[in-house]
Amino acid sequence: MGGENPYIAKPEIRQPTRKFRVTFQPMDLTIEVDPEKTPDAQDGLPGSILQIALDAGAEIDHACGGVCACSTCHCLVQTGLETCSEPIEEEEDMIDSAAGVRPNSRLACQAVPDGTADLVVEIPGWNRNLAKEGHAPQGD
Ligand code: FES
Repeated sequence: MGGENPYIAKPEIRQPTRKFRVTFQPMDLTIEVDPEKTPDAQDGLPGSILQIALDAGAEIDHACGGVCACSTCHCLVQTGLETCSEPIEEEEDMIDSAAGVRPNSRLACQAVPDGTADLVVEIPGWNRNLAKEGHAPQGD
């Protein structure tokens, strides 16, 4: 059931119909997304930024498994935000509890790009490897 929370409404999603690219910062990792290929990663909504990252081996914390029940997958969509699915109320509530919230904040597990533009996504320092490093968020 990874990526779907049966207790919340599903966001309206337009899946991409052509290839596009997502660049993750600060790792400077660019991934080409091919909508014809089935991703291996199962956490996050199908086609979400989280699923794209995990499928390429990029690590983004996602404590709840990508079901919009935490804020550890909080990211900043620097470019291409307008091509992502609109956040539902539950996502906005979760983002409110995240550190370092900005107007371009999204939950990586809930934001699904439609592929009409390339994306640049920043994974904030306070969200990377949090569990492994074992300390609380300190801002970016
Ligand atoms: S992983 Fe928990 S809300 Fe995205």
